[in-house]
Amino acid sequence: MPEKPRTPVYQLQAGVVLDLPVYHGGRTYFASGKILSNEDIQDLKLLGLESVALRETETMLGDQVQDDVMSQKLREHAISIVRRVYQNFQNLDREQASEIYSLGLLLKEEATRSTKLGIAVHDLRDHSNYTYQHSVNVTAISLAIGVRMGLSREELDHLSVGGLLHDIGKMKVSREILEREGKLTPEEMDLVRQHTVWGWDLLKEQGHFPPVVWSIARQHHETMEGGGYPDQLISSRIHLLSRIISVVDIWDALRSIRPYKAAWKPDQVLDFINGVTMVGKFDPQILEIFNNLIVPYPIGSRVMITGGSVAYVAGLNFGDFSRPILRMEEDGRFSYIDLMVRKSVRILKTLELAT
Ligand SMILES: [Fe+2]
Ligand SMILES: [Fe+2]
Repeated sequence: MPEKPRTPVYQLQAGVVLDLPVYHGGRTYFASGKILSNEDIQDLKLLGLESVALRETETMLGDQVQDDVMSQKLREHAISIVRRVYQNFQNLDREQASEIYSLGLLLKEEATRSTKLGIAVHDLRDHSNYTYQHSVNVTAISLAIGVRMGLSREELDHLSVGGLLHDIGKMKVSREILEREGKLTPEEMDLVRQHTVWGWDLLKEQGHFPPVVWSIARQHHETMEGGGYPDQLISSRIHLLSRIISVVDIWDALRSIRPYKAAWKPDQVLDFINGVTMVGKFDPQILEIFNNLIVPYPIGSRVMITGGSVAYVAGLNFGDFSRPILRMEEDGRFSYIDLMVRKSVRILKTLELAT
């Protein structure tokens, strides 16, 4: 097959879509389907890359509304700070507390900047450091929800710090238990659940953070109908910020690869969170915002549609992320279907998530 034409980096303009991922330092730096911002183009120049492969025919398809929740650079920076703070959980000093506050501010800025975007996660690239990555992901998506809910500046600050520290109590649970492939005994399950109370105790004792941050650590596994832990709180007795974290916490846990489970695809997680087993567990207002924020079929994903045909997601519609614009190929010729127009067709499942 002839190699696809590539576009020189110096000619790039914001809004173009990558056709192939950009690799750097042995890892995916930008995934395929990524819409490049001016900042991303700057990054490519700094990396010394000469050219990239673009989706020329699709650059203007649909609404340009998909992005990863934060840049790779910010993600790496965030994970390194969270790792350091979690590992030093017993002796958090004032300097580390202020590092967490500054990181919280950065993540808050990022969430405020991209209020028009849907969040598209791609196939996961790195499976180590679960607890640290999880805390960063949960914070970023919770902040995006908080911004859309119109929370005050102070509430967003508490949400970011609480998100970053919500699982700090897990540092008291042995790694062997947290990462066991097989089943845990009821006693071991109790130990894992204790991370909520331990987190609360630790943050309270150390005195660097306000009570709402301790509450997030304690309450993020409570559910609205009173079936959560550790206190079986009901609806409004659970702090609003804990209610936000609890939805995103489940999303990220299911999305991730763990020693005992594979990574679920975004559409599967959305179906589960909105399905019968979860009825009454989440705050309905938060759930609605969450559902409108997450892109179930990111651009570049391969999906199966009504009738069993296979198609690629080529563009998104801001009104409904579950009804994107699809590209189909037959005998080497492309055709496009806009699912907002062709209401009789729907996506049945994701076959392969964009990388
Ligand atoms: Fe937790
Ligand atoms: Fe968590």
